[in-house]
This record gives sequence, C-alpha cells and structure tokens, in this order.
Amino acid sequence: MSQGRKGHGDGTRLTHTGRGGTRHHGVVNTPVYHVSTVTFPSIAALHQAAHGPQSDRAVTYGRRGSPTTFALQDAIAAIEGAGSTFLVPSGLSAIAVSLLSVLNPGDHVLISDSAYAPARQFADTVLRTLAIETTYYDPRIGAGISKLFRPSTRAVLVEAPGSVTFEMQDIPEIAMTAHVHRAAVLMDNTWATPLFFKPLEHGVDLSIQSVTKYLGGHADVVMGSITASEPWLSRVRHWVHQLGLSVGPDDCNLVLRGMRTLGARLAQHQATGLKLAEWLHARNEVKHVLHPALPDDPGHELWKRDFDGASGLFGVVLKPASAEALAAFIDGLELFGIGYSWGGYESLIVPHDPRGIRTAVPWTEPGNLIRIHAGLEDADDLISDLSAGLARYAAA
Ligand SMILES: Cc1ncc(COP(=O)(O)O)c(C=O)c1O
Repeated sequence: MSQGRKGHGDGTRLTHTGRGGTRHHGVVNTPVYHVSTVTFPSIAALHQAAHGPQSDRAVTYGRRGSPTTFALQDAIAAIEGAGSTFLVPSGLSAIAVSLLSVLNPGDHVLISDSAYAPARQFADTVLRTLAIETTYYDPRIGAGISKLFRPSTRAVLVEAPGSVTFEMQDIPEIAMTAHVHRAAVLMDNTWATPLFFKPLEHGVDLSIQSVTKYLGGHADVVMGSITASEPWLSRVRHWVHQLGLSVGPDDCNLVLRGMRTLGARLAQHQATGLKLAEWLHARNEVKHVLHPALPDDPGHELWKRDFDGASGLFGVVLKPASAEALAAFIDGLELFGIGYSWGGYESLIVPHDPRGIRTAVPWTEPGNLIRIHAGLEDADDLISDLSAGLARYAAA
C-alpha cells in the first residue's frame, strides 16, 4: 500500500510513495532517521551493504542516506515519471552538480540568457576555470539553436519559463537538436514542478528542482534534486559522492510533508496567480504582465502545447516611474512579503533589474520590473492590497 505505482496519477503517487508501510508498525509517515554511524553484525554484512548491487539503497553511513532520504528520493522520482533522484543541499548545487556531471575541461555549454542568475555566475567562474566555455542564447531561439553548436558542445541548460522575465522555450525542439550533436540537456524545472511539466518525458536528460520552492512549499527548507536515467545517473552519483553532498533527515521530513499537499497547493497558486495576472493586465499603471498562461503572452502557444499548468510566479513591467514611486507601492503592501525565493504558502513581491545580467538579448524595458509570487491568501484580499499599492505608485 505504501508505494505509488507507475501507472497511477500524480496525486496518488504523492500520497502513497515514500511511506514506511508495515516496516514501521503501520505508522503512516516514514520516521525521521538521524544517522551518521551504522553498525553491522559482521564484516561480510558490512561489505555486502557498502559494495553490493543494492549499495545505493543500503544504509551504510549517514552521508550516503537513510530510509528518510530514500523516501524523499522515491517521492520525487515518482512525480518526475522516469529516472532516479539524487538530493543535494540546494537548487543551486543541483544546477552546479548537473553541469559538472555532463561537462569536461575543454567542452562548450549553451545556457539560456534567462537562466537563474547564480547559474550564470557558476558558469562564468567555476566552469571558466575548468576551461569550459559558455555561450548564452536567446531563450526564444527554437530551432535556431542548431547554429550555436560546436564540435565541443556537450550540454544545454534550459529553464522555462525563464527566471524573472518568463520567456518560454521550445524544449522538445532544443532537446532533439542537442541530441543530434551528442549534447546533454539539463532543465531547471522549478517553476512548473514535475506536476505541470515532466522534463524527462520531453527529451531532457537531467531534471533539476530547487526543492526549496514548491516541493518544500513552506519557506523553511533549502534543498535541490537531480533526476536522471543512465548514462547520466552514474555521473551524477559520482559527483554527489565525490563532493560529499548530503541532506539532513529533518529537512527531508519537512519536504515529504510539503509534497503530500503539492497538488492542492499548486492548483491554488495557479488559480490565484492567474487572477492577479489578469487583474494587473487590465490596470493603467501596468505595461506588460509576463505570464505564459495569458493568451497574449509570446510563449503562450508553447506553454499550452507542452505544460499542464502554471504555478504562482510571474512578472509585471510597470509603466516607468521613479524609484520613490516603486518604494511607495511595494513598501506599503500589507500581505506581500518583500524577499527572494518563492514557492511557499505566502505571497511575495520583489523588484528585479535584468539589465546587468543579460548578454544575448539585452533587456531594454525602461519600466520597473517586479516579480510576484501568489500565495494561498484569498485572491480578493491580494487584489485590494495591490490596488492600494498601484494608487500609491500613480500618486508618487
Ligand atoms: C529558478 C530557480 N532555480 C534555482 C534556484 C536556486 O535554488 P536554491 O535557492 O534552492 O539554491 C532558484 C532560487 O531562487 C530559482 O529561482
């Protein structure tokens, strides 16, 4: 009863996977195993556990995982739909480990211009010192990406929609082209989560989540996941083990608890996010709303073709006004926290300026860009708060 089967829907998998079942006296949730040392009855048993064919799942030493860690790995793998999952200490480390797993010194990598900014910094610093060259590409490039491949191109890092500016990408097209050139495709799929887009079913080789966001869902855990199949899985395992990466059992327990309600939460984030986006779209103070589920968004057709839903994160370009007007709008909000990250139950708002980050497609929009995360508050209350804020923006 405790294992979600492949044929089930995501809601069933999220409810049944990663639970202890009869192994834990019928207790519904897998217990939190705090473990560093594990002892064995004999040398033979120790060697069998550490080096036998099931060593990935053997409890041999705390850093290598426990029943709590394995339960979370199983739960994430179940909704990714294919492959096996490794857990790492953050979403950023999931991106870094994925890139290290597919690249060697002298290689070339293509990274979307709209990728999460610290991923770019990793490429511009660590990968550069390994003599790995990066080309940033226009996220809307589609089939045109084929011109950017070199004989040394071994990977493409995609993110859709993009961080902060929310451009969609043609993932199946990019994946097909990359495979013709024998390059691996890595996707940061944190926005959609595997409930709204399953990367491995669309040609992606390594599926990355900042578990910190929707999977955790309560703004109290930092963690990342990488899901892949062979041959990439062995390379990810190598890097995770060689770097000694490990996650704590209490954090795994919090994420498992968060994931049980992921479907219900995401449905609400989606509905509230869309309601706010549509309301903002009609406002005089707003120039553009950057949300692929809106019919006039440039990425809408790709989103409709490939995705099963939208989460609660989107962008808004305001008509130009002073920094004081922006501060009057945002600082006076009562229900929106001002802060980085997103994916928790609470609404957030933060200004962004992509001008200093983009290199392939310069960001030329003169208006203030803000990013909104629609939380689980009542949408009408959020709209009243935004309405008062926009009145302050217009008046300042
Ligand atoms: C799209 C995206 N990917 C990755 C990350 C990094 O995740 P973490 O904060 O868990 O390192 C973030 C964090 O904001 C993000 O927004």
